[in-house]
Parts: sequence; structure tokens; C-alpha cells
Amino acid sequence: MIIESLTIQEIFDSRGEPTIEVELVVPGHHSFLAKIPSGKSRGMHEAAVLSYADAQKVLHDTLRTRVIGLDFQTVKELDTFLIKLDGTPQKEKLGGNVMLGVSIAFARALAYEKGKELWEMLHDEFFPRTDISKQPLIFANLINGGVHADNNLDIQEYMAVAEPRAGYRETVQKLISLYERLGFVIEEERGVNPHTSRGVGVKRLPLGDEEGYEVNFKDNFAPIAIMEKLIRESELQGEFRIALDAAASEFYKDGKYVFGGKALTTDDLVAQYEAYFKKSDLLFSIEDPCDEKDFDGFKEMVKRAGDRWVVADDLTTTDPRLIDRYAEERCMTGVIIKANQIGTLTETCEAIHVAQKRGIRVVVSHRSGETDDAFLVHIAKACGADGVKIGAPAKERIIKYDELIRLYS
Ligand code: PGA
Ligand code: ZN
Repeated sequence: MIIESLTIQEIFDSRGEPTIEVELVVPGHHSFLAKIPSGKSRGMHEAAVLSYADAQKVLHDTLRTRVIGLDFQTVKELDTFLIKLDGTPQKEKLGGNVMLGVSIAFARALAYEKGKELWEMLHDEFFPRTDISKQPLIFANLINGGVHADNNLDIQEYMAVAEPRAGYRETVQKLISLYERLGFVIEEERGVNPHTSRGVGVKRLPLGDEEGYEVNFKDNFAPIAIMEKLIRESELQGEFRIALDAAASEFYKDGKYVFGGKALTTDDLVAQYEAYFKKSDLLFSIEDPCDEKDFDGFKEMVKRAGDRWVVADDLTTTDPRLIDRYAEERCMTGVIIKANQIGTLTETCEAIHVAQKRGIRVVVSHRSGETDDAFLVHIAKACGADGVKIGAPAKERIIKYDELIRLYS
């Protein structure tokens, strides 16, 4: 399929910060868009993000002269060409955000040409033997901390993990009501009367970057205790559990973890998490428990976590080589997949392949700065992901939930 034209617009993400939208036109004047999300707690190996001005420069100086008019038959063909054209380890020249925009918009064009959904096209090209009837768990961030919130929590995300036992529509509905009731409980705990005309929880509590509640708590364990109690009182413990994303690189300072007001060693921190696992039966997984360079901490966490998942995000940054290496070294049992960490769909799918081959659970994830583009749900469906990580079921995040319902109904 020939790429007839490419344009880049400056748009804004859910934090109100600039990001880019790539528009690609193919013969017949059909145009296809891709909107790129942006992260705040970013791993050091992530692909470079170009500003809008630099992206425009790349578009005019390189993409328009080197890519327009070329004919690519597959996403892999295009991505391989772009990777070679960029030629840098972290995509500093063309920008991971620009390359991913072109990659996704082109995949949408190919899907359109074949009369397929994006996920079907990705499935056929990258995962032809994968069972697409698999239903991913939903990781929904209900309480925000760390760099995603203005509160006293060191842990960045407290998520509900929902198993779609009765289908996604019903599960999402239960998740929405759990989120609302959680707001109610948090207000009561803070001594606020939730029974007022101004609405409860989500309608008036402060919300963090991923629309989870961002109030102060007694300590880092308190949100787990509140969520566990609520899930049990709602008799949802068969379908709902709890996940954490510590995003520990963000509280690692001068060789120590500044956690709960104390400076902890790796051993202290892992022991703290282990104590959390002992106290909470519903605690299901922990993401980035340690700093992205603290491989021994990850390894120790895996040893002590039993059957709970230890998920890597900043450690692996959707890089197939890093995933392979840290899977081999038993630093994780699950991995976060974020296409913009690596910068093309082809490498994203390769990262998933490597994880699946090594028996590592795959969780396809949003970023904290999101757009209304739901491509992550298509990647998840195409590869038979074990989980999707989406944020709270509210505001701009609801777009991904709605796409989940549509694709899995
Ligand atoms: P980010 O964080 O999108 O701000 O990088 C999300 C995460 O750590 O999972
Ligand atoms: Zn993370």
C-alpha cells in the first residue's frame, strides 16, 4: 500500500500536555489517524519522544522525502524501513512517538484495505496461531499516588483486577460501581458526610492522572485494606482482586527507597511487600517493586511472591531484548506492554512474542497521559493478552473500556 501523504498535528493528552497525532493518507484519499499517549514515570530505556516542533522538522526533512510514495505490503516492512532510517538505539532521530504514529496509522490503512478491524489485521500479521477467545483481566487504577498524584502515597497505583466472568459489559458495570462506592468509603473515612447534594466520590474527590482518587491515607498499606474490605463486603472477591504498581524508580534516592517516610534497603522494601502479601489475600500482583536498575530486588521479589505476579514495566520498557534477558534471569513473571516505550507496532508485537515464549504474562497498558485512541485494546485482542491496564473506569479512560466491550462482545 502506497503512503500518499503524512501530516502531524499537535494535540493534547488527558493531562493537558502536548502530544502528537499522525495522519496518513493512502490512494483513494482515505486518511487514517493515530494519537500517541505520553508517560510520566518513564523507564530509562524508553524510545525518545520528540516535541511537536521537532516532529514537524522530521516530517519535512526526512519522512516526506524518504517515505512518501513508497509501497509497503505489511506493517513489518514499513517498521523495518523506519527503524533503519532512524538508525539510533533509542529512536532519537525520528522519535519513537513519530514512528509509532506512522506505524499505527499505516496498520489502520492496511486493515481498512483488507476490510478488517485493526486487531484482526495485527492478529493475522503477527499472531496467526494465537487463540483470540482469551479474555484478559482488567487492571483498573482506582487510587493514585507517586508522581501521578498530589498526595502522601509512595505507591503509584492501587488497582482492582477484574476477571470478566460474565462478560465485559457486566464486569465494567461492576467496576464502575465499585469505584463509586470506594469514593463513598474514602469520604466516610475522612469524616466527610457523603450524603450531600454535591454527589459522592468520583464527582467531588480529587482525582489523579489516571482518574483514581488522590487523597492522603494513613500509610501505603491503607488503600489496600480499604479496597480489600470493600471487595469482600460487596461479595466480589470471586471476581475482583487488587494489584499494585509501585513504580519504585520514582522513590529510589541515593541508593535507598524513601518509602513511608523511611529510607529502606532493597531487603527492607521487599520484606515490606511480602508483609502486604501476607496481610491481604486479595493482593494479586505487584509491578515495578524495585528501581529499574535493582535487578536483584526484582529477583528476590519473584522468589518471595509465591503465585502472585511480579510485573516489569520500567525494567523492560517493551524491549524484546530486555524482556528476554530479565525473563531468563527470573526477575519477573509478568510484563507491561506499552507500544510507545519501544516506538513501532512490529517491535511491540515482538516483545509480546518473546514474553509469551518465556511464559511471562502479558499486560497491555495505557499511559498516564492518554488520548481517545484505543489501539491498546486492539493489540491486546490480537495477541491474546493476559491483561489490559486502563485506569479508572471514568472520564477519558472510559473510551478504552467501551472499546473492550465492543471487541469482546
Ligand atoms: P506512565 O506510568 O504512563 O506515567 O509512565 C504508568 C505506569 O508506570 O505504569
Ligand atoms: Zn508501571
